[in-house]
Amino acid sequence: MKEWTREERYRVLQSSDEIKDLHERIGKSVYRQTYHVQPVTGLSSDPNGFALHKGVWHLCYQWCPWGAVHGLKYWYHVTSEDLIHWRNEGVGLAPDCEYDNRGTHSGSAISVGGDLYFFYTGNHRDEDWTRTPYTCAAVLGADGKPHKLDKPLFGPRDTHSEHQRDPKIVWVESKKKYFIFIGAQTRDLKGCVLVYESAELLSGWTFAGQLKVPGYESFGGMWECPYIVNISGKDVLIFSPQYTKLPGRGESTNHNVYFLGTMDYDTLTFTPDGPYRYLDYGFDFYAAQGAANVGDPDKAILISWIGLPDNHYPTEEEDWEGTMTLPRELRVKGGRLVQTPISGIETLRGPELPANGDLPAACELAVEAPEGDFDLNLFVKEDGTGGLWLHYDAAKRVCTLDRTGMDKRFNTQVFEVLDMPIETPLKTLRIFIDHCSTEFFVNDGEATFTTRSYPTAREFHYTVSDGAKVQIWTMKPSVKDDFVV
Ligand code: FRU
Repeated sequence: MKEWTREERYRVLQSSDEIKDLHERIGKSVYRQTYHVQPVTGLSSDPNGFALHKGVWHLCYQWCPWGAVHGLKYWYHVTSEDLIHWRNEGVGLAPDCEYDNRGTHSGSAISVGGDLYFFYTGNHRDEDWTRTPYTCAAVLGADGKPHKLDKPLFGPRDTHSEHQRDPKIVWVESKKKYFIFIGAQTRDLKGCVLVYESAELLSGWTFAGQLKVPGYESFGGMWECPYIVNISGKDVLIFSPQYTKLPGRGESTNHNVYFLGTMDYDTLTFTPDGPYRYLDYGFDFYAAQGAANVGDPDKAILISWIGLPDNHYPTEEEDWEGTMTLPRELRVKGGRLVQTPISGIETLRGPELPANGDLPAACELAVEAPEGDFDLNLFVKEDGTGGLWLHYDAAKRVCTLDRTGMDKRFNTQVFEVLDMPIETPLKTLRIFIDHCSTEFFVNDGEATFTTRSYPTAREFHYTVSDGAKVQIWTMKPSVKDDFVV
């Protein structure tokens, strides 16, 4: 693996010419996605600035132009009319001010009164590499690009550690105020959320307090990328706790969880209805963010990075890495979140293929499982061996996903086998395969499992238990990979 110096990782992009060849070269990779958002060059990680504005969905991703490395982070901007077809718009935010000199880090967006506002973390570092995170804003201009304010909205609190970032902006009607939730860490290294309030979007911000989440005063070392939304009258708090191991998650120290509960903006208390749940049971799922301005009180739209911090993936040797999930619809049913693939995704289906054991590189599978134990093995070789294996144990109501059989193994020290418990017997699976990712939706969204997958040329077959009904469609490309910087 390439060793990057700090100078190389934090180089400022002076001109798009510097990465044009890289774009061309990685375009030849067999692992480039066709219906998922992926980095134009280099590395993509968290989704940022996701909102519906004047009929257009805006989404950005954390982007390091130079290669598969977490270095100087930009926001790269993509747009869509339907959350299925996406086009590249070029750099959204560039780290070009003193207060964000070492990165425009994660954040959110909101459309208000005909304008689209972006909130992000300006990652400032001094010469001696001491970090100061600022909460900053930008507004979409008539040229279709975010334009930054010339000053941050507010700086960090010295009551907490340097980890204060990822502003999530929300309007709270009952208080007639905006609130910003910031992912943070206390001085004794506990994860938490800091809350700020203002009647105006671009001024008047004051610190309101640290969010109280009874029972979770000591849970993880940093709560990255907080997101709060009300769905069907229930408050949902999603965040990515890190620097901790959690049950059933192997050796990983990065997770994405949620609570259903009640948010009280008078006391700044989020009271969970019950224990946290994993947002997705897969190997590679982190920093999920919901869109603003969805306009439906019964659903949220969520998208996530298919990847984890501190982990390494096979395309790093090709100088690129990262991809987004499909956008998903979130609903609250039976005291939990239900997640389904974005509606309309069926329009990408080509003609139905014979279910003969062949697996195209970009496809959807719809599987009806017979009663009892069940096996589905994706990406097996022609003789049926190897692959990404899903085994369902009907007595335990657990699906186990095992990726040890793949030719390309990665992050083996973190986990290669994970369980996905389900509450009702396994009936249906919808599986979306693109060139380097696989997303499983179980029982109409009762549970999901997202993983990177890098099949080699001999791994394009599948096997399934007798009695299962399998439908399979190739998926048409819907994400343009134009060189727009
Ligand atoms: C999460 C994260 C955020 C930060 C961003 C930097 O993956 O660490 O907390 O803003 O990535 O790229």
